[in-house]
Amino acid sequence: HPFLTCRRFGRNILYHPLTTSTNIEAKALAAEGAPEGSVVAADCQSGGRGRMGRSWVSPPGVNLYFSLILRPAVPSVRVPQLTLLVAAAIHQALCRHSSDLVAMIKWPNDILADGKKLCGVLCEMQSEPDCTHFVVVGIGINVNQSEFPPDLQQSATSLFLESGQLFSRPELLASVLNHFEPLYDAWLLEDDLGFILPYLEEHALLQSKEVTIDQLKRSVRGTVRGISRFGELKLESAEGETILVSSGEAHLRSS
Ligand code: BTN
Repeated sequence: HPFLTCRRFGRNILYHPLTTSTNIEAKALAAEGAPEGSVVAADCQSGGRGRMGRSWVSPPGVNLYFSLILRPAVPSVRVPQLTLLVAAAIHQALCRHSSDLVAMIKWPNDILADGKKLCGVLCEMQSEPDCTHFVVVGIGINVNQSEFPPDLQQSATSLFLESGQLFSRPELLASVLNHFEPLYDAWLLEDDLGFILPYLEEHALLQSKEVTIDQLKRSVRGTVRGISRFGELKLESAEGETILVSSGEAHLRSS
């Protein structure tokens, strides 16, 4: 792979013109023992999946859909931090390839430009019979898509629509892996996300904003004061209390 400069990730890339979902495929391969760093990529997905049980519309010929297999030897409570770590790596790769792109990281897993979604990350962890676990990091980036269906026009965009440039998909895929591998290696040696927090906060869409976080059974409101070392969103409630939120879907509140 001519664009790969990292040592381990992407040495083994399985490419499909069409698959149901690269995450489903990668989980099956990981369960059969595929090594860390293996990647499943597809031109088109017939059943692309997003967070919260949503679907991820995956038309052919224009975008990136891929999944990376990881086997982090860390306690499983640390695994959710990977989503933000990957988002930082994707953000770095996108900015590197399009210098005038203003992309922001939306906690915990999206990259937006112009208030619209450019990229989503879906991390799925699975325990193995020997008590270890693997993680499949699914990444969808809207690259050269020039049109979105009417129901997505307000909420989705692509690198092409934001920059007017067409991008090489293999080059961008390699660039994400090249940026992610050193961050992942650093994260394995550290206890938390402390080393990347300044970057995450500098490019955080929600910083200082009033938000509602929808969780499965409740929703939480507050003003965003940052991200904790463990990847939680730090909110300040109307009463001035600090609330740490570890998961959920963030909505900006218009004041
Ligand atoms: C989200 O924002 O809800 C996450 C979207 C993740 C989409 C990617 S595309 C490649 C991989 N395969 C899937 O089925 N989903 C992820």
